[in-house]
Amino acid sequence: MKIVVTGGLGFIGSHTTVELQKKGFEVVIIDDLSNSTEKVLDGIVAITGKRPEFEKIDLKEKSKVEDFFKRHQDIAGVIHFAASKAVGESVEKPLLYYENNIGTLVYLLKELSKKQRASFIFSSSCTVYGQADKMPITEDAPVKAAESPYGNTKQIGEEIIQETCKVTPAINAIALRYFNPMGAHPSAEIGELPIGVPQNLVPFVTQTGAGIREQISVFGGDYPTEDGTCIRDYIHVVDLAKAHVVALERLLDGKNEENYEVFNVGTGKGSSVLEVIQSFERVSGKKLNYKIVGRRPGDIMTAYADTTKANEVLGWKAESSLDEAMKSAWLWEQRVRKESV
Ligand SMILES: NC(=O)c1ccc[n+]([C@@H]2O[C@H](COP(=O)([O-])OP(=O)(O)OC[C@H]3O[C@@H](n4cnc5c(N)ncnc54)[C@H](O)[C@@H]3O)[C@@H](O)[C@H]2O)c1
Repeated sequence: MKIVVTGGLGFIGSHTTVELQKKGFEVVIIDDLSNSTEKVLDGIVAITGKRPEFEKIDLKEKSKVEDFFKRHQDIAGVIHFAASKAVGESVEKPLLYYENNIGTLVYLLKELSKKQRASFIFSSSCTVYGQADKMPITEDAPVKAAESPYGNTKQIGEEIIQETCKVTPAINAIALRYFNPMGAHPSAEIGELPIGVPQNLVPFVTQTGAGIREQISVFGGDYPTEDGTCIRDYIHVVDLAKAHVVALERLLDGKNEENYEVFNVGTGKGSSVLEVIQSFERVSGKKLNYKIVGRRPGDIMTAYADTTKANEVLGWKAESSLDEAMKSAWLWEQRVRKESV
């Protein structure tokens, strides 16, 4: 069965491609290489022994999207990762984010609505919850006003899919609300590419451990949490990738109860910034140079998932511990550094 993975050379898309191939799916990757390189294909081949088809297409180009679907009539589903994801940049360039994250989504849905039946998986985010009132966060927690254009694109994206599904029964869609993806494939053949200054904690931690960055700032040590630092739900990217495969299979097998569904994808366990740093120190045997500084505006204090719905309905559960995920992130960091010297 042929599945399109947009953004399939990116961090989560490449790991999902591997898991899809392992299950026997034929993958066609669309990526414009704006945040990835073609070398990722070699990493995928090294793991699975199979080179996915790849087309370099910018999904903002509507005519190219139309042409792609004309040439690939046998597409059974689309997993849509392609998007811009830097929260800070989205504040400075909102239109770039609305065009890349919303425009591309609309073009894809338009093409899928021409089909007799199509399955669609969307990369959403726990940012839609903002600072939720209750922990752990369930899927019916209210969606809070977005803090950034990036966050807004995920909320609007979900609404666009939901409204499209209401009037297009041929499209069956699932939005997966990721908590905090981290780590890399345990083979260290693929991982998060070190492009620019990391936006997320874990690559910052491993880069500091590798000596690329002198020190890591911990924003806020006076939150009313156990150790005073912020708490997030860190999920191993391989576990996250597997969630996409089971969600897709649910749609392809027609097991979905509604034609638009939403699932949290996390571990259900919150870890503080200091716990993440301790995990790094445990798995690497290195001391990390960190400093607690003032709070960062816009940061929420605590977010971790209630994963009951994904566990029970999808039959999926995150398997890796924080240390296992950290070990893979550290292995990947070392490999990237070795190749860049
Ligand atoms: N990584 C996270 O922490 C996180 C958390 C929640 C949600 N998400 C969402 O998950 C998805 C994947 O994230 P990621 O971390 O793998 O990001 P990534 O940047 O590594 O991957 C995205 C890929 O999409 C490609 N791309 C971007 N715009 C494109 C376009 N117009 N046409 C074709 N290709 C395009 C990029 O080149 C890149 O390879 C994104 O939608 C992101 O918003 C990520």
